[in-house]
Amino acid sequence: MHETSTTKDPTPRERSLAVFPAGSNGEFNLPADAAMVIDRGLGCELWDAAGRHYYDFSMGWGSVLVGHAHPRVVEAVLRRAPLGSNFAYVTGESLALAEEIVRLSPAADQVRFCASGTEATMYCLRLARAFTRRPKVLKFEGAYHGANAAGVTSLFPTAAANYPHADPTSAGIEGQAGDDILVAPFNDLETTRRILAQHAGELAAVIAEPLQRCVPPEPGFLEGLRAATREHGVLLVFDEVVTGFRLAYGGAQEYYGVVPDLVAYGKALGGGYPIGAFGGRHDIMQLVREDRLGDGQYVWTASTLGGNPISATASRAALEVLSLPGTYERLHAMGNDLRQSLRRTLADRSIDAQVIGDGPLAQVVFSKEPVRDYRTSQRGDKSLARRVMLGLFERGIFLNPMGTKLYLSLAHDRAACDALIDRFGEALDAARHDAKTSFAAS
Ligand SMILES: Cc1ncc(COP(=O)(O)O)c(C=O)c1O
Repeated sequence: MHETSTTKDPTPRERSLAVFPAGSNGEFNLPADAAMVIDRGLGCELWDAAGRHYYDFSMGWGSVLVGHAHPRVVEAVLRRAPLGSNFAYVTGESLALAEEIVRLSPAADQVRFCASGTEATMYCLRLARAFTRRPKVLKFEGAYHGANAAGVTSLFPTAAANYPHADPTSAGIEGQAGDDILVAPFNDLETTRRILAQHAGELAAVIAEPLQRCVPPEPGFLEGLRAATREHGVLLVFDEVVTGFRLAYGGAQEYYGVVPDLVAYGKALGGGYPIGAFGGRHDIMQLVREDRLGDGQYVWTASTLGGNPISATASRAALEVLSLPGTYERLHAMGNDLRQSLRRTLADRSIDAQVIGDGPLAQVVFSKEPVRDYRTSQRGDKSLARRVMLGLFERGIFLNPMGTKLYLSLAHDRAACDALIDRFGEALDAARHDAKTSFAAS
């Protein structure tokens, strides 16, 4: 954060601010004086170009669940790299990976690879529309499914529209938001059922993050969704880009015990390398066969780098690590400990907040009210949240300062979690002190 230029040459931060909007290639923007350029990472730590050390609680937005530069992943990639990096066709690596996904994923009789979670959910919805010959999909307010139309629609609505009316959130999205995308509140089965019943004839799919952002499904919600979609002949799509391989080896399907018709994967699947995968019932997946071209239901899928052997090799190495005994007990124990410690730190200071999440995921919402959906997640003190998150950043904790999830990995240990908790306490005290002094001055 205290990067200085000793010569006339611009610093990495200055160069980054010049070529990237807001000095960022990602979803979150830092204030200009906090923008940084990362040099390297190892385990749960990273260092920036100015030599500063951070504990990483973003972990490549959760893509590096095994930890940065895990030796087994590095060794596998180095072994594979001299043999060619992309053929845009099946290799032994992508074949073995596909077999493993079909084995572990209850929903996936067959799969195809792509290069990101955004593509994976897009293909699931395209398949659903083609299979059912219906135009619309229903998503849950505040859910993210990647940068595609359904992913960003009603992602951060600023005004409370009436369900199922959608908010565009991003300009420039094809079609008019709301035409083809209906929106329901997460964890509200009654409203969801009502919308389903009213629109069943035009609804192809309901897409859900089984753990929406960091908000767990209430008991019976996913089961109710499964039953209601089945009743109306609407396909259920699970976006397991975050939950896949993270809540359990078999993802949310195994963890919550509900099986959708189609499933999308990404992030942790790649061990930090680019990959996405989508899969589902055999009869649905058959729509992508080229010999169906022209029959009105054929679905185009293509991804030049999808399933490339480097990503597939990294993925297989990561899955080997994740499938070792004790992985999920450890990830859940660490997540529980972290959430408890965050709660204690807040309670010691009598600060009203909710600490939500499941497995190796946590989020603090500075609100008195329990969080069960997007709207309750937005009722908190967002300015305090922002100050605390930036305070953590200043104190050497790398995270998304939009106040979203903290991602743990297999590489996190007691030292990293203790550092987070100590600095969280300091950042809370500093943020409250700043708030008091600015109030006194006004
Ligand atoms: C639940 C969920 N789905 C899809 C995506 C999109 O994945 P990608 O960024 O690989 O396109 C994300 C990314 O954060 C996500 O959290």
